[in-house]
Order: sequence, then structure tokens, then C-alpha cells
Amino acid sequence: MPATTTDVQKVSILGKESIHCGFHLVPHIVETVLTQLPSSTYILITDTNIAKFHLTAFEQEFNASLTSLANGTHARPRFITHVVPPGEPSKSREGKANIEDFLLLNKCTRDSVILALGGGVIGDLVGFVAATFMRGVRFVQIPTTLLAMVDSSVGGKTAIDTPHGKNLIGAFWQPEFIFIDVAMLETLPAREFSNGMAEVVKTAAIRNEAEFSSLESRSAEIFAAIQTPSTNYAGRVKRTRSASQELLLSVIVGSITVKSEIVTLDPHENGLRNLVNFGHTIGHAIEAILTPTILHGECVSVGMILEAEISRSMGILNQVGVGRLTRCLKAYNLPVSMADPRLANLPSAKLLTVDRLLDIMKVDKKNSGNEKKIVLLSRIGDTYEQRATVVADATIAKILSDAATVISGVPIHSPVKMVTPGSKSISNRALVLAALGRGTCRLKNLLHSDDTQVMMAALLELKGAQFEWEDAGETLIVHGGEGSLSVPPKDKEIYLGNAGTAARFLTTVCALVQKSPKDEAETTIITGNARMKQRPIGPLVTALTANGSKIAYMETEGCLPLSIHPNGLQGGLVQLAASISSQYVSSVLLCAPYAAKPVTLELIGGQVISQPYIDMTIAMMKSFGIEVTRRVDKETGKLLDIYDIPKGCYVNPPEYSIESDASSATYPLAIAAITGTTCTIQSIGSSSLQGDARFAKDVLEPMGCIVTQTATETTVQGPPIGQLKALPHVDMEVMTDAFLTATVLGAVASGPTKITGIANQRVKECNRIRAMIDELAKFGVATNELDDGLEVFGTPISHLKQGVTVHCYDDHRVAMAFSVLAAVVPKTVMDEKRCVEKTWPNWWDDLNNKIGLDTQGVELAGPTDSVSTTGPSSAKEAASIVLIGMRGSGKTFIGELAASALEWNCIDADVYFEIKFKTDVRQFVHDNGWSAFREAETNLLKELLTEKPYGHVISLGGGVVETPAARDLLKEYSRKRGPVVHIVRNIDEVVEYLGIEGSRPAYGESITAVFERREPWFRECCSHRFINHVEAFADGKFVIDPTVTKRGIREEVSRFFGHITGLTPNLAPNLAWGRHSYFLSLTYPDITPALPRIEELSVGVDALEVRVDLLRDPKAGKQDSPIPSPAYVADQIAALRRVTSLPIVYTVRTRSQGGAFPDDAQNEACSLLDLALRMGTEYIDVEISLPHTWITDMNSRKGCSQIIASWHDWSGDMKWNGSDVQAKYDIADQLGDIIKIVGKANSIQDNFDLQQFVTRMNSRPNAKPFLAINMGTEGQLSRVLNTTFTPVSHPLLPSRAAPGQLTFSQIQQALHLIGQIPSKRFFLFGTPISHSLSPTLHNTAFQALGLPHTYELLETKEIDDRIRATIAAPDFGGASVTIPHKLDIIAALDRLSPAAKAMGAVNTIVPVQSGDGSGRILLGDNTDWLGIRGSISARIAPGLIHSALVIGAGGTARAAIYALSNLHAKTIYLYNRTRGRAVELIKAFPNIKIHLIDQLGEWPRDASGDALPPNVIVSTVPASETTMTNDDQKLHFPAELYAYRDGPAIVIDMAYKPVETPLLKLAKDTAQNWETAQGVEVLLQQGYAQFELWNQRRCPQGAISRVVWAEYRRRVE
Ligand SMILES: NC(=O)c1ccc[n+]([C@@H]2O[C@H](COP(=O)([O-])OP(=O)(O)OC[C@H]3O[C@@H](n4cnc5c(N)ncnc54)[C@H](O)[C@@H]3O)[C@@H](O)[C@H]2O)c1
Ligand SMILES: [Zn+2]
Repeated sequence: MPATTTDVQKVSILGKESIHCGFHLVPHIVETVLTQLPSSTYILITDTNIAKFHLTAFEQEFNASLTSLANGTHARPRFITHVVPPGEPSKSREGKANIEDFLLLNKCTRDSVILALGGGVIGDLVGFVAATFMRGVRFVQIPTTLLAMVDSSVGGKTAIDTPHGKNLIGAFWQPEFIFIDVAMLETLPAREFSNGMAEVVKTAAIRNEAEFSSLESRSAEIFAAIQTPSTNYAGRVKRTRSASQELLLSVIVGSITVKSEIVTLDPHENGLRNLVNFGHTIGHAIEAILTPTILHGECVSVGMILEAEISRSMGILNQVGVGRLTRCLKAYNLPVSMADPRLANLPSAKLLTVDRLLDIMKVDKKNSGNEKKIVLLSRIGDTYEQRATVVADATIAKILSDAATVISGVPIHSPVKMVTPGSKSISNRALVLAALGRGTCRLKNLLHSDDTQVMMAALLELKGAQFEWEDAGETLIVHGGEGSLSVPPKDKEIYLGNAGTAARFLTTVCALVQKSPKDEAETTIITGNARMKQRPIGPLVTALTANGSKIAYMETEGCLPLSIHPNGLQGGLVQLAASISSQYVSSVLLCAPYAAKPVTLELIGGQVISQPYIDMTIAMMKSFGIEVTRRVDKETGKLLDIYDIPKGCYVNPPEYSIESDASSATYPLAIAAITGTTCTIQSIGSSSLQGDARFAKDVLEPMGCIVTQTATETTVQGPPIGQLKALPHVDMEVMTDAFLTATVLGAVASGPTKITGIANQRVKECNRIRAMIDELAKFGVATNELDDGLEVFGTPISHLKQGVTVHCYDDHRVAMAFSVLAAVVPKTVMDEKRCVEKTWPNWWDDLNNKIGLDTQGVELAGPTDSVSTTGPSSAKEAASIVLIGMRGSGKTFIGELAASALEWNCIDADVYFEIKFKTDVRQFVHDNGWSAFREAETNLLKELLTEKPYGHVISLGGGVVETPAARDLLKEYSRKRGPVVHIVRNIDEVVEYLGIEGSRPAYGESITAVFERREPWFRECCSHRFINHVEAFADGKFVIDPTVTKRGIREEVSRFFGHITGLTPNLAPNLAWGRHSYFLSLTYPDITPALPRIEELSVGVDALEVRVDLLRDPKAGKQDSPIPSPAYVADQIAALRRVTSLPIVYTVRTRSQGGAFPDDAQNEACSLLDLALRMGTEYIDVEISLPHTWITDMNSRKGCSQIIASWHDWSGDMKWNGSDVQAKYDIADQLGDIIKIVGKANSIQDNFDLQQFVTRMNSRPNAKPFLAINMGTEGQLSRVLNTTFTPVSHPLLPSRAAPGQLTFSQIQQALHLIGQIPSKRFFLFGTPISHSLSPTLHNTAFQALGLPHTYELLETKEIDDRIRATIAAPDFGGASVTIPHKLDIIAALDRLSPAAKAMGAVNTIVPVQSGDGSGRILLGDNTDWLGIRGSISARIAPGLIHSALVIGAGGTARAAIYALSNLHAKTIYLYNRTRGRAVELIKAFPNIKIHLIDQLGEWPRDASGDALPPNVIVSTVPASETTMTNDDQKLHFPAELYAYRDGPAIVIDMAYKPVETPLLKLAKDTAQNWETAQGVEVLLQQGYAQFELWNQRRCPQGAISRVVWAEYRRRVE
């Protein structure tokens, strides 16, 4: 047999060299298997993804080899293959049975050899099959994912999943061989590769520091190995292997070796083997919640960081270790925190609570009893114990929680002596200096950051220095290379990521390179990530090139990557433009001594910026032995921007201690100051060049601290607690970052402290001045904002409010400054503890371990700052809304309506402008020109957005989008903060409107031209759009039947803004409550013809589905274009909104999923779905076949709208008891708020299987609403039984949306017949009631909905046995109660609703299930007030009710008062002929202010003497007792009743007879602004509410009202 030569590296496990690693191993595998594992049958099992790439090679090789084998006497062995679906669901009992059946069917026997070709899923599954098939057969692992190569294939663990959890059933079963063919990774998706890298990094982190260092610095090369295809079997033999192939192989072999060693020492996982579980305790808990969307390695990556932080908080691991681990994982594109958007944007991410995670961790296999165990890293490459360590729950909780609290008290470690994190600028300089220097230097307190890390890696590549770590990374030993630098090997670019300082410093360093080793590349190449490739480096390159260096831009002019020739630096005069970055200057200065000639550096091109940093570089060069001189103008004595640098070589001091970051040092010092203790910061003193180093002397000392400062140390001793002195005025311009620290000290000082010179702090991570003012206010500290600072009024500590939650604005300085205050104010919570990571990642640990103030984790009730995922908890917290759009589109009009609906304030930016600049816009433009106006407008926008962050509707001028800066502001706002709503109005209408409205300055250009320019800008800036059609829709295309009752624009405004702000989401209540819910599928190409009948069509349903894929734009050029234009769809939706407020389900169904939308138009589908979000559509059906990243992004923007993640199987092949459907469910579960799976029934059994699946899924914890149905006539049963959003049809629709679809009323009848809706009896109690309209009302409703109930009269004089028996009967459905029982009935009931209690009267009885499950109880409610409220609010917005008058003092008057108070009527007047009864009634409402009126028509007056007539009147007295004329017997209504004439007003007469009562007639005769409402209307409104209480179903109002009005008229005539 001609064996193909293959170089294989073998690793031994359990005493056998059975792991073979290399590239292109197929021939080697086949040969080894056939010779070493003789058998009659070889079965290769793989999944469809892998089969596509790699199956053929195996088939060919096996068949060829077997043919040549067959020459012998034995029967030729068989080679058979079996391909299963990919993914975790295959790893199930069903999946296992499926393979076993295959083996049995193929008569496989005990001597079979099974080859598992695939990832961990295949390996685990096939391994477990092998372990039990015929009591165990031999098997071989051929892992194809990196995870499987380094982890799952090694160790012999096999398993399957069950619904109870992953890997719960399995066996230890060792494979005969493990073949690692690294070339197979070339077909693996990059994300899967990163997934495996998590395990590789993990293994190195626990056992092998050298390996870790290489992973840390060589990620780019490692990725390159799988990204470059190895053609012609490159790599099969060593000779043909590329350097990166070699590297990747060594990484994999290294990782496997460690795992094999551990497995060999502890094959059954009793102790040592637990070490490989580093990151897995927490990782698994996260995975349990986010699987399968987030991969195992991704969860473990986050888990590793959190577990490393636990170790750090216990004082075991230092921050260096955590930092290295973080950066290393990031380099492989792995997430390192739960806040990573890939995790945080998932709907299930809200389940990642501390409690839930701890709960899941309880069942970890490593635990002993109740104690949780975690593998604790002690440094990179080693663990604290040789096993997992017990960790207290509180410690884990502290790390997992988002917020932190400091336990106030005296720091127990006082006197504290500590070093704070190293300064970033000094760290970077020291690294270059020591590397270029002569001798060895120990760098202490080096800051570990991306910059320093890439800098070190680059210096190594250039062979410029050698590095070693000491004290677990606390000290870096640099062996200086004396400036000798080499071009790196060929195909080796220096990759700098996005490390800016490194890039600038290294550019000149690379120019110093003089040597190019033979055979290697001629130039040094430095490059970075995409962002880096946009950052400027031009001025530096220009200066160096002018000086003789040869540097070429390889891509964009002025940016990295650069190709630098090894010419060395010429020296002499170097001219450099230094007005952009002082880092260019420092870069040249640092390298200048190594130039061929002494350098004279002249800075040109205007004002030099950041001179202190240049001084810092020069001072540090001096410490390393080179003295730079700055020239002085001999005549004036002024310093010039010219520097002379001598030639030379830096001399490394034996030790160089990097100064602490001076801003960070202010916090521990301030803690000493505020707590009256002592603190010494060891690496910062009077010789420091950092401005903030003056904080101790300039701020703390005058505040009463004793400050002792040496050149390198600062000690502060605070005065006794509470005795800090106020600073009348301090200018902090030289130490702006420290002002927050000074401010919190000022807050507890003896008087006012004024801080100035810090205006720049308004544009830092947040507006820091504002932030301090707002957060201090929570403690009760008064402040005063100044132009360039603030004044804080010191308050005694004992007066400060405790238990404050400080919002940190994701700003490290805010969090750390308030930690200082927290030391003396108990129970202060900082809401975002992770924001300190920017400069002091282990701040909370240091506070604990070094300073001695205990910290604890706090879990806040709700998400703090995400407008995106959940609604705000109160109107005050909801972010302000910004309105944009063309002039004349109605922004002000809509804005005012919205503000009134939300009870917010409305701001018109133009008006605001005029107030601020004391001139109108036109005048301003005239005086200052357009550009000045635009600038002022942008500044004003910025101001509005920061000053009015909550509770405002801000409507902006139409031209605001003309300025790019303003557009950026708007985009930023809509992305991160709140809604930016584009008000859209048809342009022709706008033209017409502006033509009429002459009050505004003319455009100067045509409106249409302006429209065309601005329209795209509006679209890109907005997050939402609101269509304001004043009358006709679009271009008059849709003219709604004038007889249709249109919803007022006010109703739509309140729905839209209530929904998008999350204050009143317009969602279907039945769905939320888990009751049967339905939507009607509108299957029209154009919905408008259906609009007049929408009410009738939508009877009973909870939502309307718009099948966007079925819409056909008649104007679209191509006949029957299958894709409707977004504009057409928007108009259709807007037209629908005009007639109904039902939530809309927005669906774009593709052909393969049973719809009409093309499958190959994903972009169009996505943009139509995006439109749905923008229009505030409540439910959006998103097929899970769309890219998951896109859906996740959609989720992050959806606000309160809900995503229905759907999957439709039309093939009829999906089995509800198979594994496929589970996979779809799991994906949908990750992506949606509602899960929808539609299959096809071939027999009734399919419905039972469906039902069983649904029951199983619904019993999972936190199960989401699940819509599951089968299509086809055979599937109708599933439609009857489905609870969530059953799609229904209606006889009037043009076609059914799907075969087998039923109508709402058919489903109700079917449910009734199968015993799910038993018929019930409803009653009216009272007397006299024979003329009541209530039976008509309710029976009409039952009929319309297909419900089997009846409504009857039960006339009695009192609450007697008949009534008692009726309400006790099991089929009692509910009752209306009228005169005279409204009060007496209360005794017969179990409970009252709050409204009934407040009014002391009941008009509705509802049988409800008791909360404790003890059975049915009777609830008394009252809907009378709802009827009154509904009749009023249909005509007047709540904010517009001034005062209101109630006439009468009986039960109905009570309802009227309650309703008016609920509507926030400003004053309520009460009039009754018998004054005493009115007085009594007023007493019954102690919490409502009611004003007694003695004379109708005479109104109380306000302060300025003006009468305040009401604009709402409700009369509850019988009309027969009233009159318009003077009549002593009757109640007389004077015309002054209607004195209110300034706006909308309404009068309601509760009497049914006559049709026109005297009160209503008087209104019609005297006042045009008064609308009238009859008693029947109120009756109807209260009846609708009653119906809904009884049936939990929307009342068919239209049908009822038609029949009731007709009946009413029939009777009165
Ligand atoms: N037994 C153990 O000790 C152990 C350890 C860790 C993980 N696991 C198990 O491993 C499983 C995860 O394994 P995984 O991450 O390999 O997932 P996987 O097997 O699902 O593979 C990931 C995806 O990549 C595809 N794929 C695999 N190789 C490919 C290739 N070369 N080219 C193109 N596509 C390819 C697969 O079809 C699949 O879609 C989990 O079930 C986990 O429980 C087991
Ligand atoms: Zn793992």
C-alpha cells in the first residue's frame, strides 16, 4: 500500500501515543485505522455541514484502500457513512436512537469501528453511542472544530442532553485514536474558531505561562493560519508548512498536551481535572441562559474573566493577571463581560440576574454540598490550589452584580500606604527608553494596557529588547538592546490593534532600524485594525521623510499601514508640525539620540499643543542619561520651539518606578481627608510633572488636612470627621480631572466651595459638572452651576440623605468620587461599578484590600440606563422625544398633542431660540447670516438635549438637519438615549399648507427641492416616523369612505407616543396574561377597501396582522412587483391606524415560509421590518432564517414592541416529536419575545404530537408565549387549541392566509363543544328594569363573538334568596346591578375593586378565581364611572379640563366625581337642590377637593377676580325634574351654565328620556363650543367595560352600539 508521506506529531494520553496531529491527514487516518483497528465494518458518522467539505475525501480514500485490501482471502470490510443534522439538538436521546437504529439496520456487530468526524456534538454523541452499542464498540475521534480538537475529543467524556440539562447522561469511553487534522479548521466559521480559542487560552492560563504569552502576542498570525487556504496539501510534510501553520499546530499540540497530562493523572475527574473547569462555573451558568445563541467558549470567556475577578477580589490574583487575560481573550474576538452587546442585546439577557446565576451554579458537579467551588487563578500559568476552591456566595454575588456599595466607616488599614495604578503616558515612555537603553532596568508599577502590550510585542519583533516578568507581572525586567533593531522576518507585519500611542512612538522607532537580515523582507511594516487605519500619522511621516527616511503609505495616504525602510535616522534638522499631537514630538525626541547626526528638532505649524507632555518626555530622557536643551531667544529670553538632542545611548537605571496616575491618587487621599485617617501614596510627590499631583497641596491642605510631600511620596492626614474646611475659591484649571474629588469633599465641608477653570469637564465621558450637581442633589446637597465650574454648599454629614443610588454615567471618575462620599454616608450605591475599568479596574478590590473599606455587590431592581430593552418605570425617567421633519409637516401640532397625551412639556425650538437670543429667527439670520444661525441652532440643540433629558417633547426647526454636527447629535441621541421622531406629511399637502400660511420666511428655493435634499437626512437621523396625514392619504389614493368613524388624530398620537416611550405600550392584554389570544390576518393587496368594515372584521381578536408580503403597490412600475415599496407600506399602515387602535402584527412572509415575498430579497425584507419598528408597530414577525446578528440588533432597538420569532415548515417533514423542531424552538426562544412555529399536519396525530411538545416547552421555567399550529385541514384542531395569537380569518376576507385557517367565532364554538368554554348565565339585578337596554347590549355582544352565553333580567325588590342562589350557581357568569341594589349588594360579595370601594357602590359583579387558589370568589366592581370618563375623554384631552360641574348627589354623582378626579379636573363643583346631601357626599370623598355651589351659573373667581366657569358638566338628576324656564317646582338651568367659551367643552345628561333633555337643548341653543352626550352613550360605554370584565375579551362596540341605538329609538318613538 503506497502510504502518502505525512508528518505526524504524536501526543500520549493514558500511556498511549494515540493522539496524532498534523495537516491533511486523511490518507494517514485511513491507513492507521485499517491496519491498527481491523474490523468487518467501518462506520463514519458526521453532520451535513462537515460532510459538504470533508466527506468525499474519506470516501475516496477508504474505497481505494479497501479495494487494494480486498485482494486477500478475507471478505472485504465495509465502509458506510451516516450524516445527521448539525447542531446541539442532535445530541439528544432521539439523536442517539436514530444512529443506533441506523447501525442495527445495517447489521453492525461488536467488531465495528465507528469514526466520529465532526465537532463536539458529533464527538459526544457518537462516542456515547459507541460506549453502549453492543455493550461498547471501538471508536475514533476525528475532531473538526478547534473546540473538539483541544477539548471535547480528549479525555473520553461522552454525553447527550435532555430537556433537564446538558450532558446529563453519558459515559467515559476512550477513543482508540484521536486524529487532529488542523487543515480542517480552514473551513470552520471564524466564530467557531474563536469559540475553541477560549479553551486554548483557558488551558494556557491555568498551566503554562509561556504558552499564554505567545497566545497573547500572536493572535494575528494564529488567525492567518486558518484564513490562508493550504493548497496542494501544504503542511502535510514539515517542509511545506508555513510559519503560521507551525504556530497554530504548536498551539493546539500545547493545549492538548496539558489536557492529556491532566486527564492521565486524573482520568475520572476527581480533583486535578477540575482545573480545566476554570471559567466554567460561571460560564456554564451563563450558557444555561443564553444557549444556543451564545456558544460555549463565548460563555466560558466571560466566565473566566469573572472568575479571575473573584480571585482578584480575594487578594489572590493581581490586576496584571486579570488585564492580560482580558486582552488576550479580546484578541480572539471573544466577549469578556455580560455587557458585551452580543450578549446584552439578547432578549434572554434580562434573565442574567445574580440570583438566577447563583441558582444555576448550585447544581455544578464540582460543588461539595451547598458550597460552590471555583478554580482560582493565582497568576497567569498557575492556580491557587491544585483543584477548585470553595468560594462564598457573597463573594460571587459581589463580582456578578452591576452595582456596588461601600460600607461606610473608618478605613481599617489606616495608616494606608499604597501605590495607585501607573500613569499611562509615563508607562509608554519608560518602555521605549528602557528598551533602547544599555543595561537592565526593572520597571515597577507599569500600567498594563493595550498600548504597553503591543509596544512590547513590537519591540520583541524588532529584536530591540528582551523582557521578563517578576512578582507575577508586577515588575517588568527590560534588557535593553542599545538601539540595535532588525527588520522582522518576512510575512511578519507588526500589528498594533488600535493602540494609538504605540503607533506614534513606534513609527520613529521603526525608522531607527538599520539591519535587514539576509533572505528576509526589506522593510518593516506596521499596521493596525480598521479604526487605526483611519487615525492620522501624516505629520510625523512627513517630518521623517523630509529628514531622509524612506516611509511609504501602503493603503490610505496619511495613515497606517506603513512600510519603513531600514535606513536608520539621518539626524540634523527635523521639522515637525506639532499642532495636532504632542505624541509626534515625543516620538522624535525619544529616538533622536540614535540618529546618525545630532538632531535639532524644530516645531512648526502654529501653536504647539500639550507642552507639559513634551516636558515630561524630556525629563524622563534625562533620567535615562540624555539631556535635551530647549533654545531660548537671546534677545527676549523667550523659550523657542527648537530642541537640541545630543547623540548617545540611554543608560538604564537599575530600577525605574513609574509614577502613579495623579488623578487616581486623589481618591485614596480624599478618603483619608473625609474619614480623618492617614494615607500615603508611594509613587507620586512634589517632583511629579502631572498637574493633578498638586491636588494634595492646593486642595486638601487648605481644606484642613496635614499634607507632607517628598519628591516621590504624598501623605495626607485628614481632620477629624466632619471638620473639613470649605474652599472659598479654587481654580482647578491645571488639574481639571480632580474636580470631582474636590466637589464631594466640598459637599461635606464647612461652607460654600467654589471651583472654577473646569469648563472642559462638560465634554468628558459625560457632562461632569451636571452629573455632580444632579447626583449631589440626591444627597440633599445644594449646588450652583457656573460658566466654568460650580459652587457646592457644604452640608453636615449627619444631614445628608442615606441610601442614595448614584448614577455613574458610565464615567469612572464619577464612580470613584462618590465612593469617597460613600465612606461617610451609609448605604450609598454606585449603579455601574464596571465603569472604573477605564483607569482603575480593581478599584473596588483595592478599596477593600488596601484601604480597608468593605464593598458589597448590589443588584438594582431594573436596568438602569437602557432605553432600548425595557420601558421606563415612570414618566419622569422616560427620555425626552425629539421631533424632526419638514417645515409645515405639523411638528408643533403633533408635539403639543403628544405632550398633552403624555402629560409632558412641549418645547418648540424656534420659540426657545427667540427667548434665548432675544430676537426671532429671521432677524438673527438677517443680522448674522445663515452659517452663524446654523451654528447657534446646533448649540441650542445640544443644550436642549442635555438640559431636558426627560419628560419633554422637543420639536425642532426643519433645517436643523442641514448641519452635519446637528445630524450627528440627533443620530447619537436616537441610538443611545431616546426617540427621534420624523413627522412625515405628504409634500403636496405641505406645499399647499405653506402656501396658505404666509407668516414664515420664504424658502428662497422651491420647497420640493428642499424636501428632496432633507428627506434622506431626516430618515437617517430618526429612530421613528409618524405619518401625519391631515386628510387624504398620500396623493389622494386612499380616500376613506366618509361614513367610517375615524379615530381622531389625538387617539393615534397618544397610542404612538405612549407605545414608543414605553409609558403605555399598546400590547394585547390577553397575550400577556396567557389567555387565548387571536389576530386577524388581513390578506389584501390593498387594505383600504377593508377599512370601512374593520370593526366588523376584527370582532373578538386581539390584533390585526398586516401581511406586507401580500401588499401590491398599484403604482409600482412592474406589474405585480412582489416587493411593495416602503412608502406604500407606510401609507397602508397609517391608513389602518386611522380606523383602529388594535395592535398590529407586521409580517413579511417569504415564499419558502409560505408567503409571497421573494426568498432572495433579504435586504428588502430587513428594511421593511425596520420600517415596522420605526412606525411603532407592536408586534413584528421575524423569520429566524434571517441573519441572527440582524435580529439581535433589531431586538436592541425595539423598545416595547415585541418580536415574534417564527419558523414555518411547509414540507410536512418536520415532526413535532423530532429533534428539528426543538432546534427551531431554541433559536426562536433566543431571538424573540414570542415564539411561533408552524408545521403541517398529515394526520390528527400530528396535532397531539404538537400539543405534547407545546406542553413540554411551556413547562420550562420562564417559557415565552408560544404560537404552535399545524397547517392544513388536518391541522384545524391545533388552531382551536392554540393559546397564543391564533391567526384567524373572517368570512368577509378575500382569502384565507393559510390553509385550514378558521374564524374567531368558529374557534369559540369548537372550544365550547369540546368543553373549554362552558355556557354561562349573566343577569341584571334591580327594579324597575323591564325597559332596560342591557339585555340587548350583552346578548348582541355574545352573539357577535360566537359565545354560548345568555343575559337575563332578575327583578327583585331586595337582595333575596333568588339573587343569592343565582350568584352561587356554578354557571353564574356575572351580573349588572342597578337601582336600588347598588349599595346593598356589597354584603353578598367577597371583595370590592378599588373603584367600587372609593365610590361605595357596585354596578358589576364578576366571579373571579381567588389568588390563593381556594376557588371562586365574587368581586364587586363599578363601571359607571368608566362610562362617564369615556364620554368625556372622547371629546376633551385630560389636560384641557379646567373645572367641572356635577349636578345631583346620588350614586351616579359619586361615579361622576370619581371619573372627573381620575381625569385630573382642576376643580370639581357640586350642586344639589338639597344642600345637606351634597355636603354628605363631599364628606364621602375626603381625598378629592370638591367645591360646593349654591347657585347654578355663579362661579367662584380666581385671584385676579375672573370667574371660572366649568367646561365639563354632568347632570345626574331625572330630566323630568328640570327646566329651561323659570318654574319653582323644577330645577332651573340658566344660560350662564355655558359661560365657558374658550375651547372644547361637554355636557352629559345621564337621563335616557327624553332624547333631548332641557339641559342638552339649552347647550345647543346657547353655546357652539359645547358638545352634548346622552345617557345612552354612557350606558354603552359602561356596558363595554362590563363586558370586558366578564369575558376578558374586547367588546364588539360597533355591533352593540348599532343595535342598542336602534332599539332605543324604537322605544322612545
Ligand atoms: N466531551 C467533552 O469533554 C466536551 C468538552 C467540551 C465541549 N463538549 C461538547 O461539545 C459540543 C460543542 O462542540 P462544538 O463547539 O465543536 O460544536 P459543533 O459540533 O456543533 O460544531 C459547530 C458547528 O461547526 C460546524 N463544523 C464543524 N466542523 C466544521 C468544519 N471543519 N468546517 C465547517 N463547519 C464545521 C458544525 O456542523 C456545527 O454547525 C457541546 O455539545 C459540548 O457539550 C464536550
Ligand atoms: Zn469547555
